Amino acid sequence: MRSSPWWKPGSRCLRMGDSRKVIVFDEKDALHAHVVNLWKKVSKESISERGTVTVALSGGRTPIDLYRRLAREGKDFPWEKTHIFLVDERFVPRDDKDSNYRMIRETLLGSVPIPESNVHKVDTNQPGPDKAAKKYEREMVRHFQPGSGLFPRFDLIMLGLGEDGHTASLFPGSGLLQEKKRLAGPVTLDSKLHDRVTLTFPVINNGRLILFHVEGQNKAAVLKRVAEGRDPTLPASLVEPVAGELLFLADRDAAGLLSKKSYFSAYR
Ligand code: 6PG
Repeated sequence: MRSSPWWKPGSRCLRMGDSRKVIVFDEKDALHAHVVNLWKKVSKESISERGTVTVALSGGRTPIDLYRRLAREGKDFPWEKTHIFLVDERFVPRDDKDSNYRMIRETLLGSVPIPESNVHKVDTNQPGPDKAAKKYEREMVRHFQPGSGLFPRFDLIMLGLGEDGHTASLFPGSGLLQEKKRLAGPVTLDSKLHDRVTLTFPVINNGRLILFHVEGQNKAAVLKRVAEGRDPTLPASLVEPVAGELLFLADRDAAGLLSKKSYFSAYR
């Protein structure tokens, strides 16, 4: 049992088993503050146990304000001992408006004293996403040195949720959903969209703490299908930690369709 609850006043916690919880926040601000606290806690524990903390960050729009807050409040975090990987990246130059690295650098990493060598980027100068995924895989192996047959173990993985149920760049129908060996894979989408490189499920599910950060009414239906329904047709439902913890952090709008009955049970 934890000595203090994960949830705070102003939020409601919906327990879905010991390692799977949904926490709903009345205000986005409280959700962001909660992540800042979780980051501090994970960082402290990981550094004291293993000497470093390794975090995988997602792109997209949702985390922008949260990253800005981490930049403001995390100036004195132990950045020297913090390593950052990307959950996924669009196959575009690093200064492109669609680059996840660019967004994360502009909102967070450019404002904190993290050594450049601690930021593990996808090399989008490679001839294609497959080569870039292979190189990224080698980078993970170099950093984690997981040992033969074992997967890297991120201390914290922050995921987003797409309205179509994708997470990272793992989209419905993709062959990568069944990937069992590779640590990162290439993603080719509709010709109008950028190719991408993404972490695979064996790596994501090996994380110690996996967070879904979900905001907005447009995510309410998909959040219900993933968090409550565990709809197996949606990639995000395939996030199931092997030996870690899964938290869905949602604002009131995104949680709008979650079952009231389950909410009440949180207070018992
Ligand atoms: C990306 C992502 C992706 C994202 C979801 C949600 O690069 O786009 O990492 O998985 O988290 O698409 O995106 P929004 O936050 O923009 O809704």
